[in-house]
Amino acid sequence: MSAKEYGVFLPIGNGGWMLSETAPHPEATYAYNRRVAVDAEAIGLDFIMSMAKWKGFGGTTDHWGQTLESMTLMSALAEATSKVKIWATMHANVHHPAIAAKMFTTLQDISGGRAGMNIVNGAYAAEFEQMGLWDAGLSHAERYRMTEEWTQAVTRLWTEDKVTFKSDFFTLDECESRPHPATTPSIISAGRSESGRRFQAKYADGAFLSADNLEQMGEFSRSVHDMAEEFGRTVKTYSMLTVVLDESDEAAAAKAARYSEGLDKEALFNMRTSWGIPADTARAWADGAKGTEAFQTPYVTGGPETVIEHIQQITNEAELDGLMLIFPDYHADLLPFGEIVLPALRAAE
Ligand SMILES: Cc1cc2nc3c(=O)[nH]c(=O)nc-3n(C[C@H](O)[C@H](O)[C@H](O)COP(=O)(O)O)c2cc1C
Repeated sequence: MSAKEYGVFLPIGNGGWMLSETAPHPEATYAYNRRVAVDAEAIGLDFIMSMAKWKGFGGTTDHWGQTLESMTLMSALAEATSKVKIWATMHANVHHPAIAAKMFTTLQDISGGRAGMNIVNGAYAAEFEQMGLWDAGLSHAERYRMTEEWTQAVTRLWTEDKVTFKSDFFTLDECESRPHPATTPSIISAGRSESGRRFQAKYADGAFLSADNLEQMGEFSRSVHDMAEEFGRTVKTYSMLTVVLDESDEAAAAKAARYSEGLDKEALFNMRTSWGIPADTARAWADGAKGTEAFQTPYVTGGPETVIEHIQQITNEAELDGLMLIFPDYHADLLPFGEIVLPALRAAE
């Protein structure tokens, strides 16, 4: 099995991935994210990725009320770094494929071949309703069909001089998009449904998965690997992990407990409703939520040994090819992770 890949999920939204008044609050600024990117490269991480988000969750922390635009940020970070892979997010429902194709050709040129396109289909209605861009008539499966046609159009524009493409969702008429990228940008995709995983298997080089538990994560990862094989392809699978690292397990647990105390229940409620959960169900759930719900993703707390063991366990048990890491306080947490944890993970491979 090849070496695992590790990267960092850039905090392009204020508050990062902690819904809490008592957790550190990464700022949605270029300066904050630039330092994270430079540190990520310095410690030897493989990739940096930014999401694309258009509306926040309010609450006392105004969680993700401020966000940077993914493509613009990653383009600047391509200049600020030289080795790390640069993965930016594109919404297939927002950007016309001809615009997206050229943006990534440009990013591939700027970054010297390090660009990756994280394709998402735009699943959160409120973000697009506010722009008049939400098509309520499209089912989940149809959104993936649209995204598939979008991806076919983009990838053809990267290699063909004139593209004529007439589909249910897009029309290209001898459409030109030159220069072509010197090497094809990587395609990344985040999903968990059957349609999402099929899309990943068919088109993506890297697949981000989320699951209810480690066993399900393993099933999802295997299904992407197996389906990709049927298509004669290989796809690397990743999941997300928030790391609360300190000198000892006790110190890390105390830190996590402090972060959990200030859970922002209003932002949590708004986040759940943004996923399409009915307001009364989301309200009852958020009101009763435990402080640990302040962590938006699975997390580990511990001293170095515990964190190393946990990371090895989840990547091995769930048959993942890598992890995208999140830190409550990127500026304080990333370098110690790079000094102690990452070398041990690499050495054990
Ligand atoms: C790591 C990761 C990053 C994601 N980034 C974005 C994003 O930037 N913008 C977005 O609208 N959705 C994003 N999503 C949501 C996915 O596009 C998708 O809607 C979600 O994973 C559900 O998958 P499904 O459609 O297969 O059910 C992300 C999901 C994951 C796991």
